[in-house]
Amino acid sequence: MNMKIIVAKDEKEIGCLAADIYEQLIASKPDCVLGLATGSSPLPLYAELVKRCDEGRIDFSAVRSVNLDEYRGLAPEHPQSYRRFMQENLFDKINIKRENTFVPDGLAEDADAACRAYEDNITSLGGIDLQLLGIGHDGHIGFNEPDDDFPLTTHVVTLTEMTREANERFFSCLDEVPHEAVTMGIGTVMAAKKIIMIVTGAGKADILRQLKYGEVRPELPASVLHLHPDVTVFCDEAAYSKC
Ligand code: F6R
Repeated sequence: MNMKIIVAKDEKEIGCLAADIYEQLIASKPDCVLGLATGSSPLPLYAELVKRCDEGRIDFSAVRSVNLDEYRGLAPEHPQSYRRFMQENLFDKINIKRENTFVPDGLAEDADAACRAYEDNITSLGGIDLQLLGIGHDGHIGFNEPDDDFPLTTHVVTLTEMTREANERFFSCLDEVPHEAVTMGIGTVMAAKKIIMIVTGAGKADILRQLKYGEVRPELPASVLHLHPDVTVFCDEAAYSKC
C-alpha cells in the first residue's frame, strides 16, 4: 500500500506537520500550484500557514491555487460560499494574490462550459503540485459522492442528503444548503503530483477504517487514493481509533 498514514496527537500537531510540507514545497517552487479544500479539516493547517506567513517563513506571492469545489447557486460573497470561506480562513490572511486563486464559479449559467474551463485552467497552470483533501462520512472527496464509477473531470454533482446534513452546521437550516455543487473530478485529483488528506475526530473513525482496509471501488470514492503513488493521510488519535 502506498498510502502513508501519520497519527498525530491533536489537530495542532497535524497543522504543523502538514505545514512543513507546504513550507518545503513553496521554498523549492515558489510558483507552485496548490489544490485547496474547505470544511473543518483544513483549518488547523490554514492557521499554521497564516502564522508562518506572518513570521516570514512562507512567501505566497507567486503561489497559485485551485479549490476543489463550490456550491451551485451561491455567489462568491455569500457567507457560506467556498470562495468566501477561503478568503476568510486563508487568502485574506496571507500574501497570495487574489488573481492567482481559483475557485469554481457557482453561478455560471453554462455550468458544463465553466467546468471545462476550470479543467483547462488547471492544465494551463501546469497541473496541481500538492492537493489537499478532507473526507466525507460517506467517503466523498471533493464533492465526488459514492457512485457507480469514478468521475474524471470537473463536473456538476447532486449532493446526497448525508452530505447536505453534514454541512447544515454552516447554514441556518437544512433548506438553505444547496442541492448541487461543482467539483473537481477524481481524475483531476489523481493527476496531482502529491496528495495530503486530513482526517480528524471520532466521527471519522469508521470511514478512515474503511479507507485504510477497503478495496478500490467507486462506492467509496476516497479508496481511489490507494492507486496514487504519493498520498499522506494525517489523522488524530480519535479518527484512527478503529484502525
Ligand atoms: C471541501 C470538500 C469536502 C470536505 C469533506 C470533509 O472542499 O471537498 O470533500 O473535505 O466534506 O469536510 P470536513 O472537513 O468539514 O469534515
